[in-house]
Amino acid sequence: MGWTWAGEGGRLRHVAGTVRLDPVDEQNLEPLLSVAAAEAEPLDVMPPVEAPAGWSHARREAFREFHRASFAGLDGPTGTRMYAILAGGEVVGMIRMSRRDEPGAVETGMWLGRSARGQGIGAAALRELLQEAAAAGMRLVVAETTADNLGAVSVLEKCGAKLRTDGKKVLAEICLDSALPPV
Ligand SMILES: CC(C)(COP(=O)(O)OP(=O)(O)OC[C@H]1O[C@@H](n2cnc3c(N)ncnc32)[C@H](O)[C@@H]1OP(=O)(O)O)[C@@H](O)C(=O)NCCC(=O)NCCS
Repeated sequence: MGWTWAGEGGRLRHVAGTVRLDPVDEQNLEPLLSVAAAEAEPLDVMPPVEAPAGWSHARREAFREFHRASFAGLDGPTGTRMYAILAGGEVVGMIRMSRRDEPGAVETGMWLGRSARGQGIGAAALRELLQEAAAAGMRLVVAETTADNLGAVSVLEKCGAKLRTDGKKVLAEICLDSALPPV
């Protein structure tokens, strides 16, 4: 399960239905770090830290601590819930939501390992995140990216975001009342 033939080119494409989110915890933290270290740039997956370049020991430890700080979720000290993105049962990336100052609003951000990109997993993960946000009582999900991040802009558009540019920045807003089908 997990793959199906699609398109005239016979290209393998992931079935969006197999994408699942699991809150980041001690169990999936090491698999998540392995994907990040093998298939992502540090700055795509964590804030900058003073450490030797690349996936040094110190940066790996900072990655663990960065994620542990949000284990308590939206009501914890960081106001952030992080989820491992699973495709076909394998950890392939992370998506998060963080409380904003306005009640009922969260900001989202995500990354996927290089081999998982370009298969529709990003949009499927964001749709799952929107469901989680709605279930947590949120009404608005916002995101910020840059105009040259075509993958991120496309994922946001596919999920019903209203986009606004501010210089090189792209600011996205997804109103959950209209983005989600009625229950
Ligand atoms: C951004 C990201 C999450 C997008 O997820 P994804 O699963 O790769 O996105 P999708 O497969 O749904 O692709 C979205 C669309 O963008 C297009 N796209 C992706 N990368 C592209 C690129 N470099 N140039 C042109 N188009 C691109 C895809 O073709 C796809 O178009 P389609 O829907 O018409 O087929 C992923 O690429 C990633 O992790 N990037 C690195 C981290 C990052 O930039 N995170 C976002 C920070 S704001």
